[in-house]
Amino acid sequence: MKRLLFAAFFLAPCLPARAQQPVEQRITALLQQMTLEEKVGQLNQYSGRELTGPASTRKTDQLNAIRSGQVGSMLNVRGAANTRAIQAEALKSRLHIPLLFSLDVVHGYKTVFPIPLAEAASWDLAAIRLSAHVAAKEAAAAGIHWTFAPMVDVGRDPRWGRVMEGAGEDTYLGAQIARARVLGFQGEKLGGTDAIMACAKHFAAYGAALAGRDYNAVDMSLQQLWEVYLPPFRAAADAGVATFMNSFNTLNGVPATGNTYLQRDILKGQWQYPGFVVSDWGSIGEMVPWGYAANKADAAQKALAAGSDMDMESDAYHTHLAQLVKDGKADMSLLDDAVRRILRKKFELGLFDDPYRFSNEKREKQVLNDPQNRQAARQVARQSMVLLKNDRQALPLHRAWSRLAVIGPLAKSKRDLDGSWVPDADTTLITSIYDGLAQRLGSKTQLSYAKGCDVLGDSRAGFAAAVETAQKADAVVLTVGETWDMTGEAKSRTDIRLPGVQEELFLALKATGKPIIVVMLGGRPLIFNTIADQADAILLAWWPGAEGGHALADVLSGDYNPAGKLPSSFPRAVGQLPIAYNQQYNTGRPVTRPGDTRYKSAYIDAPNTPRYAFGYGLSYTTFQYSELKISRPQLTAAETVQVQFTLTNTGPVAGEEVAQLYLRDPVASLVRPLKELKDFQKVLLKPGESKTLTFTVGKDKLSFYNQQLAWVAEPGEFQLLVGSASDDIRLSGKVELLP
Ligand code: BGC
Repeated sequence: MKRLLFAAFFLAPCLPARAQQPVEQRITALLQQMTLEEKVGQLNQYSGRELTGPASTRKTDQLNAIRSGQVGSMLNVRGAANTRAIQAEALKSRLHIPLLFSLDVVHGYKTVFPIPLAEAASWDLAAIRLSAHVAAKEAAAAGIHWTFAPMVDVGRDPRWGRVMEGAGEDTYLGAQIARARVLGFQGEKLGGTDAIMACAKHFAAYGAALAGRDYNAVDMSLQQLWEVYLPPFRAAADAGVATFMNSFNTLNGVPATGNTYLQRDILKGQWQYPGFVVSDWGSIGEMVPWGYAANKADAAQKALAAGSDMDMESDAYHTHLAQLVKDGKADMSLLDDAVRRILRKKFELGLFDDPYRFSNEKREKQVLNDPQNRQAARQVARQSMVLLKNDRQALPLHRAWSRLAVIGPLAKSKRDLDGSWVPDADTTLITSIYDGLAQRLGSKTQLSYAKGCDVLGDSRAGFAAAVETAQKADAVVLTVGETWDMTGEAKSRTDIRLPGVQEELFLALKATGKPIIVVMLGGRPLIFNTIADQADAILLAWWPGAEGGHALADVLSGDYNPAGKLPSSFPRAVGQLPIAYNQQYNTGRPVTRPGDTRYKSAYIDAPNTPRYAFGYGLSYTTFQYSELKISRPQLTAAETVQVQFTLTNTGPVAGEEVAQLYLRDPVASLVRPLKELKDFQKVLLKPGESKTLTFTVGKDKLSFYNQQLAWVAEPGEFQLLVGSASDDIRLSGKVELLP
């Protein structure tokens, strides 16, 4: 009854006839009714953890602000009942404008999927879209309208903890994934109750923070900005992403939040972006300590002028913007534009027609308990895993192994499997690796367990018991890696070697002579040279999410043939950074013979190559690439060339391969990288089966940003490289672009 009353009360001012009017007219009508303070209110976003917690001054202040139309959006309020209750407060405001509820739904809401970097390793756009869709369905049923995802920052520095939230080091792959994630969260169009607004973040170049240190400055050429860092944002915008978030970093001296070039010239100018830009948490206020604004009022003025529409948690707009407008220091038309952008999204979500449409407790219960969500998480988790090593076919687990020792600090851990950026890590929903294996292998295989050591620390007290356990078994599954809180926001590390004494534990177990299968967990590229050299098999499971234990059992047992490929290079040493594959140039002094470092662009203490290259990943089967045909030796800018080849499964089991197309432009007006990914296809082949695959290359794939920042394809020869990884090119040819 109470609900009906609220709805009736709310809907009255938005006359039914008005609902038929085009959205822009309805916004104009509403804007005309709004006071200056109410307009500023729409730009104000608070975090509402307090609202659902115990009484506090902040809670009272926030509720009063909401009731008086001074808040446009709340983050961190969730659950159908909570959002309904808080929405009801907003509807008490003079114009009854509904709130937007937002949350970081990064890799699942209730059902936790693999971390985004892991999903990127699937190179499976349908799987990635499915993951975002399930997350959106669940979040939408819990009252959430808007997620702060996907993070589309290109992440080329594994010291930066936030690489776990992105799609890795490559721009092309990152752009494809950005699109898949946006479509997954938003569906084809906003308005359904199983779709939420997405947010492309962090605009821009946040991933290039100097020294891999979070929140740090960024300094880069504009060519690099346009070529490497902007395309995933452009792809998100083209896919219709509802919002953008700016970032904490400076870009060439100007904070992104106060950056007119990024937000007004590029995003809202050249790209004609119709959505709105939210600041990052407190980033408007942070322009003061950066030394770009004298005080918060100055910061508010600069942020609005630069195109930041909504203020997340700085309280700078709320406190200063109305006065700035009155004093003629902030432009009313910019304020109106920002309000219009925000109201537009509220209309598109259908909130003006029914502000409670996302807050339905019955639907919440149904959707959050849908077993299909868990099945999807298991599927995506196994698709995300990367087989890094498999000597003498140590995997899948041999049938003859009737006693398996499951060892390591992460074998029975649950929380760690979820990784960071989860709304709730409900450990009752997580299957550990040990439990997943026990359930899959049943009574036929006797499992034993020893922890061996912790992830961190230097205690070797558990080694002896672990070695004894290994000695009594036929083979060892050793689970090592990072704990969930070692990677994520504000988790930069200078040392990305496997932490603690885990590699020593490995060596102690190796000395038993038993086959050692290492399961590597973590949220970023790690360094583990000893294990890489000596393990029998290594399966990179990342943070696989709540279904990780089951997914891992699927892969280890051979029920599922792994097909993941690395979306980031794994270095041999931190000193090699930056080592992204597309940051490698021939230089004037290339190393032509391994080990020949004298006066060459090389290190005297390590090779230039990574331990595991971008695009690398093994399978339980093998693939052969043959019969490359390039449809024409030359093309004009108006034509395309077909790169055709045959892919054959030459091994004993069915499997998927991600065939990759790289390109090299050997001579250009700006020196080009040795390789750039331009396309890929993931194909399933039965044993012995062959398929003909075709990549189409036209002007766009041959282009780059020249010195004038024009997107050009320069005439001349291009190398076309087809392979199984960036360092495993199987076929190569060339084509000439005619003037
Ligand atoms: C992060 C954003 C996130 C926001 C809200 C910030 O610290 O940088 O990515 O969306 O907090 O939680």
